[in-house]
Amino acid sequence: MMNYEDINTLASLLAGTEHTVSRLANAASLLNECLDDVCWVGFYLCDEEGNLYLGPFQGKPACIKIQRGRGVCGTALAENRTVVVPDVREFPGYISCDAAAMSEVVIPMHKKDGNVVAVLDIDSSTVGRFTEGDSAGEEIEILTEIAERVLEENE
Ligand code: SME
Repeated sequence: MMNYEDINTLASLLAGTEHTVSRLANAASLLNECLDDVCWVGFYLCDEEGNLYLGPFQGKPACIKIQRGRGVCGTALAENRTVVVPDVREFPGYISCDAAAMSEVVIPMHKKDGNVVAVLDIDSSTVGRFTEGDSAGEEIEILTEIAERVLEENE
């Protein structure tokens, strides 16, 4: 389970690193180290047409492009909201990159002007690993804070 200390660890890890790719790469690594029971952690970034392309991640190779509005990632982007999927088999239009993934959370990442420019995507091979329940709610809150900080230097 991640805790608020991990946010500070991330902040020190990112301090003085202005390049987006380096920031995202180290954030993906830290999240992968700190989170229990995850099989994929990474970022998708918005291109000029408003679709998503694969960014730095930890885990198996994944889909390179995801259209706005498609899958969990494209839905989080298009609707500008965190999407929690306790069981991927129940999400219409779910895009499967790894047959082992059973639950997923996708958190939009904003610039200061409020525009969504990327998403943080985390998969688990356990059904119900991500839910909107109480303790899970706190973890998602921490992840949301982390997602916002990763891009901060670039605004
Ligand atoms: N399952 C995602 C696709 C990305 S992979 O999980 C890494 C989706 O439905 O958008």
